[in-house]
Amino acid sequence: MAREIGIGTVSLGWMGQLHTRAYRRLLDHYPGCGLRPRLVIAADAVEERARDAADRLGYEGWTTDWRDVVGHPEVEAVSIAAPNYLHKPVAVAAARAGKHIWLEKPCGRVPAETYDIGRAVEEAGVRSTIGLMYRHVPVVEYAREIIAAGDLGEITHYRGYFLADYAADPNGALTWRYKRSGAGLGVLGDIMPHSVDMAQNLIGPIESVSAQKETFIRTRPEVPEGMGTGHFTVEDGELGTVENEDYAGALLRFENGARGTMENSRTCVGPHVRMSFEVNGTRGALSWDFQRLNELQLYRTDGTGDRGYRTVRAAPGMGDFANFQPGAGISMGYDDLKVAEAERFLSSIADGRDRAASIHDIVSTMRVVDAMDRSCDTGGWEAVRDPTGATGERGVGAARERA
Ligand SMILES: NC(=O)c1ccc[n+]([C@@H]2O[C@H](COP(=O)([O-])OP(=O)(O)OC[C@H]3O[C@@H](n4cnc5c(N)ncnc54)[C@H](O)[C@@H]3O)[C@@H](O)[C@H]2O)c1
Repeated sequence: MAREIGIGTVSLGWMGQLHTRAYRRLLDHYPGCGLRPRLVIAADAVEERARDAADRLGYEGWTTDWRDVVGHPEVEAVSIAAPNYLHKPVAVAAARAGKHIWLEKPCGRVPAETYDIGRAVEEAGVRSTIGLMYRHVPVVEYAREIIAAGDLGEITHYRGYFLADYAADPNGALTWRYKRSGAGLGVLGDIMPHSVDMAQNLIGPIESVSAQKETFIRTRPEVPEGMGTGHFTVEDGELGTVENEDYAGALLRFENGARGTMENSRTCVGPHVRMSFEVNGTRGALSWDFQRLNELQLYRTDGTGDRGYRTVRAAPGMGDFANFQPGAGISMGYDDLKVAEAERFLSSIADGRDRAASIHDIVSTMRVVDAMDRSCDTGGWEAVRDPTGATGERGVGAARERA
């Protein structure tokens, strides 16, 4: 029988509820997991949401003060799904209290806050898992294996996109996401970490960048009293200023010599969530789009068959696919990726070995984001460097442990 582990959750918006569902489903999909989650307490500033944690989501207790979660003696692991401005205070307090953390990206408002969280986690010696769950898509794991095995030859080109429309409506309310005090960075913090982590996880560290950013929708309606989270529109509201970027794009140089580009937008009409990549090597290529989660486009120039991409469908044997579906062609979904991440989090606590992105990986990612942000200001190429200013230092992020 698996040992019970007390779970506390901070914030019950989209991500907090998703973390909760992931814990609830974990043993259905991973009966062999060494730890069995017990939902002890959850916090949300909105009392109705906090009460709902106990009434509907299965927590034994609820609170409107996140400190009650972090300080609870029966909580051993804390899910932090709060707005960005709370990442650092909650994560640092949790680590110092000896709690393991499953923290949503971007882990603070700006890279400096991510580095502070990294130091607190290291000093406390607790485990950390970061919400970079596109890594856990089975065909993405398969793509990573193909690249690592050298099947595509030398990797020469990389293109990464996260083109979204969640902020394309000018009537989309001016929530915490659009303010420096709430979110910090715009898309550079909100979605660029997914693109950067994906690229570095697939083909290796980014060495330098040349970036640009733009805010296309400069004012939005203020949030009405009592509403503050999620995405919603307000008609004829009083307008306030958007304080961070809608768009960021960059040219990339990888340490292994590959060259690439990356584009992120939250106001891009057309694609809804085009989180995608294309990797080209000297002997083949592959590409993937989140909106076709279970399909990899693969082209091997190995002399057999027609030239061009073919579709490879997710199947047992790729990543954790078999934990969710019995055969190729039966689709996994978005929420499943969080179940896989929850399992990796608890297993890392059980045996001290990271299987998902950890704080080291998000620190590495935010160094690249920091270089992009600096480049937007200077207009030139910027090296990825560690917080002390040295270049070429990849930090512990490069040394990922693998399952
Ligand atoms: N991994 C991913 O792909 C992904 C996707 C979406 C969001 N996120 C991240 O998850 C985090 C939350 O995003 P979301 O979309 O769930 O936001 P959301 O706006 O839907 O929810 C935020 C929640 O925080 C609560 N809250 C506000 N102040 C609080 C306080 N002082 N104490 C406790 N709770 C408080 C709100 O009431 C709300 O329930 C963000 O950091 C975001 O970057 C990650």
